[in-house]
Amino acid sequence: MCEKCKGKYYITTPIYYPSAKLHIGHAYCTVATDTMARFKRLQGYDVMFLTGTDEHGQKIEDKAKEAGVTPQQFVDNIVTGEKGVLDLWKLMNISYDRFIRTTDDYHVAAIQKIFKKMYDNGDIYKGKYVGKYCKPCESFWTESQLVDGKCPDCGRECVDAEEEAYFFRLSKYADRVQDLLENTDFLEPRSRVSEMVNNFIKPGLEDLCVSRTSFTWGVPVDFDPGHVVYVWIDALFNYMTALGFENDKYDDLEKFWPADVHFIGKEIVRFHSIIWPAMLMSLNLPLPKKVFGHGWLLLDGGKMSKSKGNVVDPYVLSERFGVDALRFFLLRTFPFGSDGNFSNELLINTINVDLANDLGNLVSRTVAMAQKYFGASLPQVQQGDEDKDAELLAMAGSLRDKYEEQMEKYAFQNALAEVFKVISRANKYIDENAPWVLAKSEENSPRLARVLYNLLETVRICGGLLSPFMPQTAEEIAKRLGGAVMDWDSLAVFGKLPADVATVAGPALFPRIDMEKELAELEKLRQEAMKEALPAVEIEPYAQENVDFDTFCKSDFRAVKVKACVPVKKSDKLLQFTLDDGTGTDRQILSGIAKYYKPEDLVGKTLVAIVNLPPRKMMGRESCGMLLSAVHKEKGEEKLNLIMIDDSIPAGSKLC
Ligand code: MSP
Repeated sequence: MCEKCKGKYYITTPIYYPSAKLHIGHAYCTVATDTMARFKRLQGYDVMFLTGTDEHGQKIEDKAKEAGVTPQQFVDNIVTGEKGVLDLWKLMNISYDRFIRTTDDYHVAAIQKIFKKMYDNGDIYKGKYVGKYCKPCESFWTESQLVDGKCPDCGRECVDAEEEAYFFRLSKYADRVQDLLENTDFLEPRSRVSEMVNNFIKPGLEDLCVSRTSFTWGVPVDFDPGHVVYVWIDALFNYMTALGFENDKYDDLEKFWPADVHFIGKEIVRFHSIIWPAMLMSLNLPLPKKVFGHGWLLLDGGKMSKSKGNVVDPYVLSERFGVDALRFFLLRTFPFGSDGNFSNELLINTINVDLANDLGNLVSRTVAMAQKYFGASLPQVQQGDEDKDAELLAMAGSLRDKYEEQMEKYAFQNALAEVFKVISRANKYIDENAPWVLAKSEENSPRLARVLYNLLETVRICGGLLSPFMPQTAEEIAKRLGGAVMDWDSLAVFGKLPADVATVAGPALFPRIDMEKELAELEKLRQEAMKEALPAVEIEPYAQENVDFDTFCKSDFRAVKVKACVPVKKSDKLLQFTLDDGTGTDRQILSGIAKYYKPEDLVGKTLVAIVNLPPRKMMGRESCGMLLSAVHKEKGEEKLNLIMIDDSIPAGSKLC
């Protein structure tokens, strides 16, 4: 370990399913992990931040089939393709140190060895699986675990499953896991402990089915062809294989294992706090120090999901508001351990109040006044503290420690609240000291310089502490303060900014957003995205009721040729057709298809008409029959094609 380092720190996100593009809910956990990793680096830790993708399983196999590609091509597209997982993390400024894909060769080979080790030590055995399986969650359940006959995690239907399979002796570890959960602070928030113990351990922990034979997209059990390793075994061990466990690709296991914390969403707490430690116990491996189950980002009170058409696109939001604003919003607005309801209104309001008004104004006003009153840099000599400064100095000087206390508890919201208390105090300090009044007399110049120095120094400390949340903004603030140093030690001491600081002007850090206008534009974009998400082609549902054959035969379908076609005046729908129907007398039919065809394009075409409908009047003109067309929807929009038949078919031919 390096001399200066405080120690090492290993933090992980869940590895994401690349079954669909990621949404803001996925970004929530990754932004939180990134913020924590940056905070630890700022403190001086040697950090390993791992993220990645969990690429096996039936869901992926099914989706690839649907898309007509191989599972590998399918996941490659979502992970490395345009606007895929890697692009998203780049956009969100995620400073991961390592990215694992469970399809990486070294991981696959390691999982095979791990599976074999547990088989050899007797903790994995062969048996028969009879139970329920939730496809979307890739979870097996016993009848008794179902809630109202449905998957207890997602509430969807489960299917019956029976097959020869391998099992992990989870039951053997029930007491040790219960002890771990109840008597240590392994799992946080503590509220999740009773949920795990009461819902899963106390009713009796059953052995876990850890292999499948009904699909092939997984890590093969190398000593029993036909079986693939259960995705959760494959996935959970990523935290160790990515460091070099059972492989030669990396050599960081000794340095970084056990992990300091796994950040995960609340619905996968069961896997991380029961199954994961039990498997590590089976292999006599050290347990991670902590698992933190954060809450969900909800939309309209429900889970974000593509099927509900309510996912929020982080690309759209970052483009419109900036990545830092989005990152900030996620951690400032919702307590990390609880659910939070996302809304565009809340996002815009947070940006306007905290970033544009409080932080942005403080930085702009302070830098602008320093430049206006003193030009390039503040004067070297400044007076000492005055009573009027005491509160601001005390608050800014003690901020780092208060912030640190909250960050150590993953209480991002509280840490930010501490920073914003100081920012508000500094804005008040400007009003109290009215630099523009001081500037009126030369005599006050030293005091004016002192006031501005205090403000700039407060900005430096706040900027530095905001850097894990908003790295680009912090960099910009440092630039405006003449390249100020914002290292951890200096953030604990008021007065580290050089007295003759040379400020640099710049545009507003966060321009104010017009709420109404922005909401309307976002709504428009949402509608477009909803449309985009609609199926490419949609056909009418088939009629449920049969029509008897004789009735059908009464319909008289004929080939007709278009002699003339003109729009009907005062109607934007109707076209008037003059048709040769083979009888020698022209037939007139009106058809509501003006939106789909130019009348002149139809002249000469051979169409199909039903000719024994009773005549009816439309816009005062008679229509004797109906032209047949094919209808469907494309991306939700009605499409219509007239049935055109071979021009060699004579007018009047009966179609049967
Ligand atoms: N592949 C598993 C994790 C394996 S870890 C060994 C998985 N993947 S996931 O893509 O479905 O979810 C990844 C993470 O995103 C989970 O922690 C999940 O809780 C989180 N989120 C997905 N939607 C979310 C919200 N709407 N809000 C907050 N987090 C959410 O589970």
